[in-house]
Amino acid sequence: MLTIYQRSKIGAKSFEAPFITVPKYALDDKYLGKEETILPSVSEIDIVRHYTKLSQNAFGVDNGFYPLGSCTMKYNPKLNEITASLDGFTSVHPLQEEKSVQGCLCLMYELSQQLKAITGMNFSLQPAAGAHGELAGLMIMKAYHESRNDFKRTKIIIPNSAHGTNPASAALAGMEIINIPSLDDGSVDIIALKNACGDDTAGFMLTNPNTLGLFEEKIMEINKIVHKCGGLMYYDGANLNAIMGIARPLDMGFDIMHINLHKTFSTPHGGGGPGSGPVGCADFLQQFLPSPIVIKENDNYIFHKPSKSIGKVKNFYGNFLVMVKAYTYILTLGAEGIVGAAQKAVLNANYLKEKLREIYYTKGSCMHEFVLSMQKVKEDTKVTALDIAKAMIDKNIHPPTMYFPAIVQEALMFEPTETESKTTLDNAAKVIIDIVKKAYVSADELHSAPKKAYITRPDETLAARNPKLRIDLAKG
Ligand SMILES: Cc1ncc(COP(=O)(O)O)c(C=O)c1O
Repeated sequence: MLTIYQRSKIGAKSFEAPFITVPKYALDDKYLGKEETILPSVSEIDIVRHYTKLSQNAFGVDNGFYPLGSCTMKYNPKLNEITASLDGFTSVHPLQEEKSVQGCLCLMYELSQQLKAITGMNFSLQPAAGAHGELAGLMIMKAYHESRNDFKRTKIIIPNSAHGTNPASAALAGMEIINIPSLDDGSVDIIALKNACGDDTAGFMLTNPNTLGLFEEKIMEINKIVHKCGGLMYYDGANLNAIMGIARPLDMGFDIMHINLHKTFSTPHGGGGPGSGPVGCADFLQQFLPSPIVIKENDNYIFHKPSKSIGKVKNFYGNFLVMVKAYTYILTLGAEGIVGAAQKAVLNANYLKEKLREIYYTKGSCMHEFVLSMQKVKEDTKVTALDIAKAMIDKNIHPPTMYFPAIVQEALMFEPTETESKTTLDNAAKVIIDIVKKAYVSADELHSAPKKAYITRPDETLAARNPKLRIDLAKG
């Protein structure tokens, strides 16, 4: 596809700047650019076609099934966008006086209360993403231990099934990471956990359901082990979609958590933001929350700095419009709808998993996602999980998450979410089964898939490490 500059034609235009009626002002030379600004000359219809085409080249939940495991790519109702673009929310300034933005503060307060009802915890809405929430949560953990003059608790235990952001956030928070192995189903190896716990343990980070989509059945035993040695339990809320409204992390014994509003509570994500990762904690830790939080005094909503707050982790109050979307979503579904969404997410994952029995049999049921290993297909045919995932693109299905969790060889991780219909799931199952069967008859075709995508097989390491984001116009 051509760039907008390559479409440029001398003389083409779509807009005539109005005649200037104010006197010209001579800007100081230091503010003037030295080079001529090159802007494309393109007619209005060509601009519209260019950007419409460009938007169609991007795959999103709105144009196809997107079973990207661990990412909860559910449909984002358009109503959320409508409320988030209301003037009353978009025209406010973050430095306005509290009394002039009572509506916005009320929304933040009520959202925190809704999240408390779902999880049992007290929230600060400041962090801008899941990983940012993790960092804030670990800073709370550290501040708590230090407030008790317990400076030796510097180690955080993390299972090897964890998302990469867990150890990354812990390292950023200045903690030492103790990695423990997991059992084959991704659940916690209790003996390894016991051996790792000691008087230098700051805490334990866990995702539940775990990254293999299974509920951690020994969660109460785990929380006793960690608490007995004086550590705190951190809940990575990325998989909250499976249990929201059904089980509360606080009741499982967790002390601190984050929520990915942009996943569980439906905001478009995947393109780098904006996201929102509220950080929550049990009552005994709430004075450490990032500031400000919104509290209600009489009938007024005010910003408040908790007494031992770790301070600000984001400018102003966090990504407010993502909060508006989450709030809209929660109100739209209501308490029953939230439970229904979690149940359907689990049902859909189990349905798809069962449909794939023909190519892959796994015992037992899963929660909201499941992981298949393509190791046998690879050994038999040399077709890899990557080849299979890429071939799905040609069938207008976004690839599942690949090679995560790292403890499963040739992993493909599917999370269909609650918003997909039976027809979509049936079609996806057929597509996946057909691709795996094809591996046994024409493997070569799969090594070069996808054929229909605009970008087929980039060198992904090179693209990540040395991104080339500009076209050299001189070369064309
Ligand atoms: C299990 C898990 N934890 C943490 C994160 C980090 O969330 P974010 O991408 O919002 O930083 C993710 C993201 O996909 C995740 O799947």
